Amino acid sequence: MKLLEKITLGKEILQNAIAMAPMTRSRANGEGVVSNPTVLYYTQRASAGLLLTEAINISEQAMGSPLTPGLYSPQQIDAWKKVTKSVHDKGGLIYAQLWHTGRVGHSVDRKGKLPVAPSAIGIKGQQHFTSQGPKEYETPQELTTAEIKQIVKDYGQAAKNAIEAGFDGVELHAAFGYLPNQFLSESANLRTDEYGGSIENRNRFVLEVMQELVNASGSDKVGIKLSPTVYYNNIENSDPVAQFKPLIEALNELPLAYIHLMNGLFPLDNYPHYPKNAVETFGSISKHLVIANGGFNKDSGEAELEKGIAKIIAYGGLFLANPDLPKRFELDAAFNTIEQATMYGGGEKGYTDYPFLES
Ligand SMILES: Cc1cc2nc3c(=O)[nH]c(=O)nc-3n(C[C@H](O)[C@H](O)[C@H](O)COP(=O)(O)O)c2cc1C
Repeated sequence: MKLLEKITLGKEILQNAIAMAPMTRSRANGEGVVSNPTVLYYTQRASAGLLLTEAINISEQAMGSPLTPGLYSPQQIDAWKKVTKSVHDKGGLIYAQLWHTGRVGHSVDRKGKLPVAPSAIGIKGQQHFTSQGPKEYETPQELTTAEIKQIVKDYGQAAKNAIEAGFDGVELHAAFGYLPNQFLSESANLRTDEYGGSIENRNRFVLEVMQELVNASGSDKVGIKLSPTVYYNNIENSDPVAQFKPLIEALNELPLAYIHLMNGLFPLDNYPHYPKNAVETFGSISKHLVIANGGFNKDSGEAELEKGIAKIIAYGGLFLANPDLPKRFELDAAFNTIEQATMYGGGEKGYTDYPFLES
């Protein structure tokens, strides 16, 4: 079974072709510092070929949601060192997912400051989960060109901090409507400077950040997560292929470890012009190793690897609820089911107490 075979990622050999998808769990403290339960949570899942962390804020400005961790203060970096050491002691490999939420946030959890974004366009028709309950989105503050250049540098600093904290690499979260995805979208980016107004300009921010991450972390240690057909968070493009094909071609020129493609999990009835299968359409353009994600089980993951475009499958919900997922695939064992109520926030319940198979 390809899922259980060793595979080379950059300079590393992974113990299997199974990644844990990045998943926000909102269990850091008010200063964005993770603690012992987080060490245990990732260590329990170290049998993944590759662990991708929950999204981690690159700066105070990047934060959108309560109790999400950071990688910009010495306390935060020290706390992650415990996670990476424990995962490595178990033979695992772990990348930090770097996050700037842009307009997907709320001032109540940003010390009263409005979220920032490529353009002053708020998200409509959805609410944001805040520490004070669900709230309507605000109109974000439009970033100046100088502020954008500073954010590119903030990503570089966060990548340096990630390497200092012992991570094996970093992944740019450029999916699901967060800041990099906002720059890539015609509905969220109406800029007229070098960061908007044309396909090339909308791609510029992501490409500058990726170059900065490579400079900070080195070759074969940087990945990127993209979701070209996910329209959640009011992200739309008249022609996703026209936007993302040149982006992926430009990424081919950088010394990356992988690109991670999330299939759209939402119905495309109102988007008949969107490609139906993001992994096939966009993965086939990439020269880098492709990680496929979105709704896979064991059989569909194996079938995806057999197609030959993706070399690794990232599992989200299944890995959250099954800390020994590779073992369960190997033995064709039953799965624990995910508990929605404990996904975000709270203590060890629904975090570190999902049972392992009895040995
Ligand atoms: C609780 C939860 C939190 C998530 N947080 C993140 C995140 O921080 N970063 C990210 O890129 N995706 C996040 N996702 C999306 C997953 O990485 C993945 O794309 C999605 O769950 C689809 O994969 P699956 O069908 O295997 O679960 C999250 C998903 C879940 C269930």
